[in-house]
Amino acid sequence: MLLTRNRRRALLAGVVTVATAALGIGLSTQFASAQTTLRGAADALNKDIGVAVSYNLLQNNAQYRNTVATEFNSLTAENAMKWDATEPSDGNYTFTQADAIVDFAEDNGQSVHGHTFVWHSQTPSWVQGLSGTALQNAMVDHINTVANRYEGRVDSWDVVNEVVSDSGGALRSSFWLNGLGEGYITTAFQTARAADPSADLYINDYSIEGDNAKSDRVYSIAQGLVNQGLLDGVGFQSHLILGQVPSDMEANLQRFVNLGLKVRITELDIRMTLPADATKLAQQASDYQRVANICKNLADCSGITVWGLRDGDSWVPGVFPGQGAPLLFNDDFSKKSAYTSVLNAWGGTVTNPTTTPITTSPPPTGSGCTATLSVQSPWNTGATYAGTVRANQNLTGWRVTWTWPGSERISNAWSIQGTLTGAAVTGTNVGYNGTVAAGQTTTFGFNITKADGSTASVPTVTCTPI
Ligand code: G3I
Repeated sequence: MLLTRNRRRALLAGVVTVATAALGIGLSTQFASAQTTLRGAADALNKDIGVAVSYNLLQNNAQYRNTVATEFNSLTAENAMKWDATEPSDGNYTFTQADAIVDFAEDNGQSVHGHTFVWHSQTPSWVQGLSGTALQNAMVDHINTVANRYEGRVDSWDVVNEVVSDSGGALRSSFWLNGLGEGYITTAFQTARAADPSADLYINDYSIEGDNAKSDRVYSIAQGLVNQGLLDGVGFQSHLILGQVPSDMEANLQRFVNLGLKVRITELDIRMTLPADATKLAQQASDYQRVANICKNLADCSGITVWGLRDGDSWVPGVFPGQGAPLLFNDDFSKKSAYTSVLNAWGGTVTNPTTTPITTSPPPTGSGCTATLSVQSPWNTGATYAGTVRANQNLTGWRVTWTWPGSERISNAWSIQGTLTGAAVTGTNVGYNGTVAAGQTTTFGFNITKADGSTASVPTVTCTPI
């Protein structure tokens, strides 16, 4: 018999040994008592609190694993279940990373919300070059293969992702729509339903949190799918901007619930203009609390997934330069005010002190600024790094320098400029992140290339005010 999400979770009450066999790493922890963690609070409400995870970080960072296991009862692969990861060439399926994430979730009594079968992005060019029957066959084969593999292990799927145009009135123009016509959405859901009848099937999109032309279009698609018994839920990605939780978000989600559907906040992050300060972090905590309350108020809100664990893990700074700090944890795994507000909204209380907002924590002693680098996601021949500059005095500009010990070389960078591509790196702030008040931090980031298989090193950085 298949284990449903809640049944599987119920098997894992109390003290649990966390094992990560598929990742080849043993780990033991004790889940904190209910309601002192996000996980405890979510379990008590019978809701999911999920996090989008990186295979590389799960594999390489014990504190990341521990926090993911302790604080969350649901996982989504940030990238590892997408088409380019699971079927990079026709019929050549690669499940190493996705398997490891599903194994980790099972070992830790967590559900999995799968992401995603049909998307216009991160789909290999061999698929995008097909049309007609060949394209349809590729889609059906892909959904069948992935859904069958995880039948009974992945609890719900984003079957189609971002199929409505940004202006809202029409379906998104994509190789799917152009190659197969509007019917591709129904075909995808029919295929997924047949492949894993036990999984909840979702349509997922962004900028549909409020009642607007785009959410209206998703609503009409949802109605059609509900009438055919093919849809179980709607995913509201909720990549939100500070202070801009739509005022009608709860009412908008309620109208989907009224169709007999579940709703789910699938990719929550709330970004701000950097640098973060106490005012912005307090606003962010209030925004997170509102979203958490909306999901709590709706019995049919299956849960919230945050799109990454720590601020430095987020996709945001790479895509929106100068924006960031959108998640619940700082890069050192300390909890932000937003964490506390979500925990409180869901009935939990903090027993371990959360991080003092960075503007009010005592400025570190030492020279004018300090800086650190951390490896966010390494791959065989490269890695993404996050850099943090901490001001020990009021800064109007900063310079960071370091020397790579090995073959590492920066290939592209954001929120930093200068002489970056050689062994000796000298970088300075860009326009928006030079002014940093004492005690505050700002961030930058970059990708490196490195020798195949070598470890991405973390050199010591010297920071100087300029
Ligand atoms: O792993 C490769 C590496 O092999 C390659 O050399 C390197 C070169 O830059 O890139 C690495 O892949 C990156 C991947 O993230 C893993 O880090 C891709 O370039 C990069 O495009 C990819 O970005 C992801 C993005 O989707 C792709 O569109 C983000 O991590 C992920 O957070 C983001 O998630 C999407 C959701 O799926 C859908 N909703 C919006 C959300 C945010 O964009």
